[in-house]
Amino acid sequence: MTEINSVTTLVQEGDVAVLTLNSPPVNALSAKVREGLDLGFKQAIESDAEAIVLICDGRTFIAGADITEFGGQMAGPSLQDVQATMENSPKPVIAAIHGTALGGGLEVALCAHYRVAVPSAKVGLPEVNIGLLPGAGGTQRLPRIVGVQKALEMVTSGQHVPAQQALAMGLVDEVVEEGKLREGAIAFANKALAENKPLVKVRENNAKLEEAKGKPEIFAEFRKANARKFRGFQAPENNIKAVEAAVTTGSFDEGIAEERKLFMELMMGPQSAAQRYYFFAERQAQKIPDVPDDTPTRPIKKVGVLGAGTMGGGIAMNFANVGIPVTIVELKQDALDRGLSTIRKNYERSRGADPAQTEKRMSMLTGSLDRADLADCDLIIEAVFERMDIKKEVFAALDKIAKPGAILASNTSYLNVDEIASVTSRPQDVIGLHFFSPANVMKLLEVIRGEKTAKDVIATSMKLAKQIGKIAVLAGVCPGFIGNRMLSQRQREAQKLVMEGAMPWDIDRVLYDFGFPMGPFAMSDLAGLDIGWVKENSKGESIRDVLCEMDRRGQKTGAGYYDYDENRTAKPSPVTEKIINDFIAKSGRNPRKISDEEILERCVYPMINEGAKILEEGKAIRSSDIDVVWVNGYGWPVYRGGPMYYGDQIGTAKVLAKMKEFQGAMGDDFKPSALLEKLAADGKKFSDFKQG
Ligand code: 3HC
Ligand code: NAI
Repeated sequence: MTEINSVTTLVQEGDVAVLTLNSPPVNALSAKVREGLDLGFKQAIESDAEAIVLICDGRTFIAGADITEFGGQMAGPSLQDVQATMENSPKPVIAAIHGTALGGGLEVALCAHYRVAVPSAKVGLPEVNIGLLPGAGGTQRLPRIVGVQKALEMVTSGQHVPAQQALAMGLVDEVVEEGKLREGAIAFANKALAENKPLVKVRENNAKLEEAKGKPEIFAEFRKANARKFRGFQAPENNIKAVEAAVTTGSFDEGIAEERKLFMELMMGPQSAAQRYYFFAERQAQKIPDVPDDTPTRPIKKVGVLGAGTMGGGIAMNFANVGIPVTIVELKQDALDRGLSTIRKNYERSRGADPAQTEKRMSMLTGSLDRADLADCDLIIEAVFERMDIKKEVFAALDKIAKPGAILASNTSYLNVDEIASVTSRPQDVIGLHFFSPANVMKLLEVIRGEKTAKDVIATSMKLAKQIGKIAVLAGVCPGFIGNRMLSQRQREAQKLVMEGAMPWDIDRVLYDFGFPMGPFAMSDLAGLDIGWVKENSKGESIRDVLCEMDRRGQKTGAGYYDYDENRTAKPSPVTEKIINDFIAKSGRNPRKISDEEILERCVYPMINEGAKILEEGKAIRSSDIDVVWVNGYGWPVYRGGPMYYGDQIGTAKVLAKMKEFQGAMGDDFKPSALLEKLAADGKKFSDFKQG
């Protein structure tokens, strides 16, 4: 065996040279890996081997370029040089794929003459998710194999294509037995030699592009069909343009030049910087300084859920989906029946619903009216009404029922988890697991650490979140935790702006254009204005009261802040406008013209300021955790990184100056946090802040 460099080895087995990469965790194409590939291929070509297999050790084939290198100077051989060496090799090169061949990893594999994979392997070009496009020939080679339509879908969605499907698409040439990749790849190489298979260069295959030349409308149609999904993002459009260049330019090299230009445009732009930041933010959020990775966890084999309402049902589905049985306890039979039938409908209505799957998942769920049935659960999640007295009664009862070591969790949105824990004899086992609605869909899970919550309970919750496909963020106990606490700031300002002369649709438009999926008033209409509204107590004291009293309770009644037509298309409502103007007149104020800039700053800066308070109180570990909450739970556009990242881009000094200006004009709703003052004074960013 020859050690090429610290991450690459070369051995010869019969006629086949095997070049092995071993650069944990994911064999990303760092300078060292590129160097190993460059030297290794050159040496293999010079050796007396007849064919070359490229394979990786560890959990995966190359998962892409090394994202940490982006934005800085690249050292060592370029990826393009490595690819040229592979493609021009006079001996067949076979890429052997397991795990995920992603981005630059797949682009390397596409320069091999053949690709083999194990059934569990996946391939894809996910660069779009970090605001980029495949910049090492992916947009030019992929359509030459899978055709333009499929290539457009793959590069703009970043989807990971399973091996069998990749085989059917021609992206992979053979699927070999699981666990036998090395043997399979060597056998394939020997077969290629025996059959004298040609050295296939994907770049020379133009048939699929010729087909697309006769259908130029394919690009316009693709753009139109996906306009909503791509709104605000730059990367999808550049990805489309790069694939388009494969068809419209005269040669592969011209296409590559265009790909390069479009790639660099994205790489230098603010969106990709934000999305790359966010990629690492999400992974960082899993790291808790005093709960290291090797903290023991408790086995969770059975889950209990209390309450089969909006949240309880969705929460239960998460566990059923991964084969963990759930007992759901309700107060009354009709509520239980309703809850279970909603779950069934959700399964039946989900995309690609398969009746057998639905039955399998439903079979994981057991309904009950008796809390004692939760005695054998390893984790019990309470999702009953949001009232402290009720939560306390429930937890005191659970304390008597649950087996020793069971985790007792609350899905409360705002309430004090320590107070809830205080009624039990085991506060160390109590934690908040704050799911978001709809709980079976939304990715975010705020994990609320109580004062006494045990470390293994935290570690178990974080791990379990990953198992059920959630992105967990740890937060401390405070009203509304991270997300809702910051949201309250935005909601307050939105309401105040309306009383000063901005119409709900003005505010919604500004936030929509900023990149949110919808503004706060459209959101209220969707959720229902009557959440928490009690008819008997309503005295027309707020705009919402009056709207509800008029039975304008949102989309479900055809009217709320907006008027809705039969297709649920929203139109600004003259009725709402009059109600608002009457309220303003009653308050003795004069409505004023409010600029879009003020709307945005009034809605967003107090949120950033609240985020700073959350940090200084130690309720979030780091500013990027707050960003993960907002991107996953509240639709903050990922191409703006998150509220704290956005604040850093504007600059803490500028955010502070604006908060002070607003404070001078409108009072202490805008009082800057001490942390914001300090960071601004020191010329620092939120991302510089470290707890302790
Ligand atoms: N560069 C640098 N680090 C990377 C990386 C990459 N491309 N991909 C993953 N990592 C790191 C993660 O930050 C994490 O580090 P940590 O342990 O210190 O937190 C570690 O590898 C493990 O990653 P995950 O926690 O995400 O592990 P999973 O097993 O859940 O997922 C994965 C593995 C599917 C490979 C996932 O990490 C992933 O999607 N990675 C990014 C893939 C990607 O975007 N590739 C394209 C890069 S851009 C490119 O190739 C440009 C080219 O066209 C020129
Ligand atoms: P919901 O009103 O839809 O459901 C609550 C259910 O709990 C009802 O079916 C009720 O019959 C049942 N219930 C009440 N007391 C019970 C008891 N003692 N034992 C068993 N079941 C009991 O309420 P929703 O919206 O599901 O909220 C539940 C919890 O989740 C609340 O704490 C809420 O703050 C929180 N939450 C709600 C979100 C939402 O968007 N609806 C989002 C995140 C958290």
